[in-house]
Amino acid sequence: MKLEDIRKVGVVGAGTMGNGIAQVCAMTGYQVVMRDVTLELAERGLNTISKSLDRMTKKGAISAEEKKATLSRLQLTEKLEDLKDVDFAIEAVTENTGVKEGVFKTLDDLCRPQIVLASNTSSISITKIATFTKRPSQVIGMHFMNPVPVMKLVEIIEGLQTSKETSALVVKLSEKLGKVPVVIKDSPGFVSNRVLMPMINEAIFALYEGVGSPEAIDTIMKLGANHPMGPLSLADLIGLDTCLYILQVMYDSFGDPKYRPCPLLVKMVDAGYLGRKAGKGFYDYS
Ligand code: 3HC
Repeated sequence: MKLEDIRKVGVVGAGTMGNGIAQVCAMTGYQVVMRDVTLELAERGLNTISKSLDRMTKKGAISAEEKKATLSRLQLTEKLEDLKDVDFAIEAVTENTGVKEGVFKTLDDLCRPQIVLASNTSSISITKIATFTKRPSQVIGMHFMNPVPVMKLVEIIEGLQTSKETSALVVKLSEKLGKVPVVIKDSPGFVSNRVLMPMINEAIFALYEGVGSPEAIDTIMKLGANHPMGPLSLADLIGLDTCLYILQVMYDSFGDPKYRPCPLLVKMVDAGYLGRKAGKGFYDYS
């Protein structure tokens, strides 16, 4: 498969990451089929895309025509079968190995054998995901960062069986999407979350131990380390359930206590305080 052969991209999952990925693909000129389990969820994703495009239009980054053209390239569906003729597929469903297994098995059955199946997983092993298909050399991690339309990085993760051709194609595609690809090997938490999550977890421990308020902890890291947002605000942006899941994967995979999730993080997730998407996390968004 060559970059020029890609015309239609399938995105599975219309949540925070999925709709961002679909937006970037449609803005680049690709026809995009964005699928979620219900049409309502897919429409919610489209609504987020529309707001993001409005923001860009107001700023003068894109014209009103470009916004219209981008939206016209997006097709919504609740059926995975509607991805049967895509030239490239990116999975961005919930971080659950069982759910991903179902999606990859179905995509593998539906899509042409030469198509690459990429996963936006933030922590699940790409080598493992590849085993759900009969094309392990064409399975790869394509890890976008939140907010996808703004963040430049795509962390590209080669599983043990990923071919060099697959990796080279995904590097070219990421560049075409206006991103900066960085290729690494499959390892728990990859690089981004292996470095980021212990910092977020440590900030939560500092809060748990009463060392400082959320505002104090975040301000120290913003002004003291020049981070665009503090670690607790960032956790709210990412989603506390996602942070907990990633820490748990690293803790289990490495068997190293340095990745143990802070009990306060576990408690907040149990309470449903998942961050921005829930209206409440370390801060109130209601
Ligand atoms: N769509 C389009 N544009 C957007 C946008 C969106 N969803 N969100 C923000 N923007 C644009 C704004 O319009 C603005 O553009 P401008 O600079 O050209 O005017 C720019 O982005 C900055 O936005 P704001 O002025 O509203 O706010 P900030 O300056 O505070 O920036 C931020 C917001 C970009 C989110 C910044 O705070 C930031 O970079 N935070 C850190 C994000 C980060 O670390 N992400 C990685 C998370 S880890 C991850 O995703 C991996 C996963 O596996 C967990």
